Amino acid sequence: MKLEVTGLSFAYGQRPVIDDLHFVVRQGEFVSLIGPSGSGKSTLFYLLGGLHCPQVGEILLDGQRINGERGHLAYMPQQPSLMPWRTILDNVRLAQELSGHKDPTQLTHLLRGAGLAEVADRYPHELSGGMQQRVAFIRALASNRDLLCLDEPFGSLDALTRTRMQTWLLRLLEHEKRTILFITHSIEEAILLSDRILVLSASPMKVIREVPVPFARGQARYERRGTKEWLALQRELETMLLG
Ligand SMILES: Nc1ncnc2c1ncn2[C@@H]1O[C@H](COP(=O)(O)OP(=O)(O)O)[C@@H](O)[C@H]1O
Ligand SMILES: [Mg+2]
Repeated sequence: MKLEVTGLSFAYGQRPVIDDLHFVVRQGEFVSLIGPSGSGKSTLFYLLGGLHCPQVGEILLDGQRINGERGHLAYMPQQPSLMPWRTILDNVRLAQELSGHKDPTQLTHLLRGAGLAEVADRYPHELSGGMQQRVAFIRALASNRDLLCLDEPFGSLDALTRTRMQTWLLRLLEHEKRTILFITHSIEEAILLSDRILVLSASPMKVIREVPVPFARGQARYERRGTKEWLALQRELETMLLG
């Protein structure tokens, strides 16, 4: 899997939102996008997912042009948007079936990995916000796409639930080999989770800087928080975003 975005530009009518955007995401990478709100991050995901078509530029997946095409990647929106009349199991199963698979073993495995096996037969409204987010997340995994696009998945959670979800995600990614493009407005979250951070400008959006995160990935990274290197990186990113 390799995603390449080259010279991408997009406008809503007369209003330019994305301007000459370039970046690459390679197999297995976790890349975060941080930028001011209203800069066009969600719009970028709509373009990658084929909901909108770019006016200029190319989106290449493994060298193949996918401008305006749907179904190549898994997408998780900020709100879990589960189907209220389906059980948790059926919500996840539907995503799997829509991708042309039937694999009960994978369903069991994902539900167990997310700590949701006990609630498989419940309905979304019976679950807490954090649990609903986890369902949405494994639903994205069940669609069996290499590339997962997550749009501020933890944005609406309280601080404690958010920390739990971050550790859970780090642990899960140790055995689920996926490539992730992750929108967040939390610098700390971006440092905690990513291999690379793309810092984006206000609208029209472009990449200001690409910053590699110099800490080993995984749960151990939590312990690096508050160290000199961590704080220096955090300050550097803050300056870029404010500047
Ligand atoms: N369907 C639309 N029509 C016109 N303008 C839109 C539409 N969707 C979003 N916008 C505008 O485009 C800009 C980028 O929005 P968005 O991609 O949601 O930003 P972000 O996700 O970075 O906060 C915003 O100014 C927003 O108001
Ligand atoms: Mg957004």
